[in-house]
Amino acid sequence: MTEVILCASLDYERLERLMMATVVPRPTVYVTTLGGYLADELNIAPFSAVMAVSNSPPYMLLSINRRADGSRKRTADNILQTGEFVVNVLDSRHIPSAVHSVDSSLTPAERIAATGILPAMSRCVRPPRVSDCEAAIECKLMRHETVGDVEGGSDLFFGQVLCVWANRAVAEHIQGEPNDAPFAGVGSLAFGWYMSMEGLFRVPQVYTRSPTSPLNQIP
Ligand SMILES: Cc1cc2nc3c(=O)[nH]c(=O)nc-3n(C[C@H](O)[C@H](O)[C@H](O)COP(=O)(O)O)c2cc1C
Repeated sequence: MTEVILCASLDYERLERLMMATVVPRPTVYVTTLGGYLADELNIAPFSAVMAVSNSPPYMLLSINRRADGSRKRTADNILQTGEFVVNVLDSRHIPSAVHSVDSSLTPAERIAATGILPAMSRCVRPPRVSDCEAAIECKLMRHETVGDVEGGSDLFFGQVLCVWANRAVAEHIQGEPNDAPFAGVGSLAFGWYMSMEGLFRVPQVYTRSPTSPLNQIP
């Protein structure tokens, strides 16, 4: 380590780059939610600021950045509207389409088409899960916190895990049975790099900035 970077001297753009490049790896997931006037419109978006933060009761924490104009992303609006979300753990096949799907000018239906995912019914919540993911974690919103309500701020969503869809190896593992099957989840690293059981790969993201297409689209 050769340099100390003082955060107080950095603007939003540089702070975001600093945090995303140093806190690695992060999980790579699709969050599925329902929204719209009748709360029946499926939305899907990739996120990496997500973590399991408690085991009993099981809780997930999802952080969603504000857009450049301070408004909430659709996923955040939907979670506040319905109180439910599903965290779908991606594998390496999903990453290119996930990265290229974040164009915020796309409607939810266009985004789903761009990702090529197949929605399936969830068990404990209304938002559908993604059928061919490594795991799908169904969550009920228990607590919402705001860290700043302008560009660079975030909405923090604490969700209680109601059930998890996973493969047989995971089911055997939680019963304490020995299992060395690989788990195909992907870690998001700095500068567009990702890590999986197969190795490292890179899917760079176009770095754009507009009121509705903010810098915080960096994976
Ligand atoms: C791999 C990846 C990870 C991302 N992680 C986050 C994240 O943790 N937080 C965030 O606010 N945006 C993240 N984004 C950007 C959102 O996916 C993007 O802003 C998207 O347009 C939000 O969609 P929505 O408005 O439908 O919720 C990520 C994008 C990619 C490709």
